[in-house]
Amino acid sequence: MAYKVGIVGVTGAVGQEILALLASRNFPVEELRPLASARSAGKTIEFGGKTWTIREATPESFEGLDFAIFSAGGSISKALAPEAAKRGCIVIDNSSAFRMDPNVPLVVPEINAHALKNHKGIIANPNCSTAITLMGLYPLHKAFGLKRFFASTYQAVSGTGAAAMEELKKQVVAWASGEELETGVYPYQIAFNLIPHVDSFLEDGYTKEEMKMLNEGRKILELPELVCTCTCVRVPVFRAHSISVDAEFEKPVSVEAARKAIAEFVGAEVQDDPANKVYPMPLFYQNKVKCGVGRIRKNTAFDNGLALWVCGDQLWKGAALNAIQIAEEMDRQGLLKK
Ligand SMILES: NC(=O)c1ccc[n+]([C@@H]2O[C@H](COP(=O)([O-])OP(=O)(O)OC[C@H]3O[C@@H](n4cnc5c(N)ncnc54)[C@H](OP(=O)(O)O)[C@@H]3O)[C@@H](O)[C@H]2O)c1
Repeated sequence: MAYKVGIVGVTGAVGQEILALLASRNFPVEELRPLASARSAGKTIEFGGKTWTIREATPESFEGLDFAIFSAGGSISKALAPEAAKRGCIVIDNSSAFRMDPNVPLVVPEINAHALKNHKGIIANPNCSTAITLMGLYPLHKAFGLKRFFASTYQAVSGTGAAAMEELKKQVVAWASGEELETGVYPYQIAFNLIPHVDSFLEDGYTKEEMKMLNEGRKILELPELVCTCTCVRVPVFRAHSISVDAEFEKPVSVEAARKAIAEFVGAEVQDDPANKVYPMPLFYQNKVKCGVGRIRKNTAFDNGLALWVCGDQLWKGAALNAIQIAEEMDRQGLLKK
């Protein structure tokens, strides 16, 4: 079974990764429809040994497609995803536009693939930091029953897109040659700095990004009572997010049992041998399918608690890879063909 596949935002940071992963994972593509803005219409891309012309994304551009992966921002998703679904093209959306919509499954296939069968044409891909954090937390939840957690994120600039990666590169070069550092994408210099501001601020002082960890975590884990607090920080790293997590569980915990649970979970791997300086870092988790979990220790702040550190490629597990894994799972469940 091969599919007619659309990619909205094909020229962007996530779009480029979707193209590469569809090829490297040999996803069965009969026809590719690369879509972006009018700026890119007419340009060409190579895929599957063929040259494909980029078209502007319009409602009509979804006619005859089996599914399309959207990575062009929330406003484009809001405008075009319903148009695509109306035309029988299933939408897998990387933006936050539909994540909390009760009619839209929010899916991490290793955790809640069962939710896909209830889709009504649109499936949402989770927030990158939330998906990566859950790769560490979900196996522990299965083992000990998650009650609450405290998270701090260290988010790479590629999380903001292609322009942000350019900005960090330029600032580092300017710094090295003693020139003025220009800002544009971020409110402040990001090189050699930390910005505790990801997405916009809410009345209660949290940012939208920080609330995604709670709201989306509850929906994916199907734990409506779960509590968490999160602080999200942009860091001068090009790729792969890291999250420090302090978690409290219903049942007594042990570090050995925690390592065993994570090692047996398909989405993650244990990188935890402090004595030999073995722990996950963004340096080692770029272009990796699995997320790494380390620094696992009994939490000194509360009983039945663990402290841990999770790293993962947010362009992959946080976006492109998770979206393609959703398509692969829907193919397996026979949910992609009309
Ligand atoms: N970056 C990440 O790690 C990450 C993780 C999770 C989710 N996401 C989400 O994925 C989406 C894309 O992020 P990104 O990082 O790939 O951004 P990006 O690098 O800035 O790329 C944006 C893409 O959107 C396209 N686009 C812009 N305006 C458009 C329009 N009017 N019609 C059609 N396409 C349009 C651009 O096409 P042109 O080149 O033609 O302008 C480009 O392909 C965002 O919703 C983001 O929240 C990103």
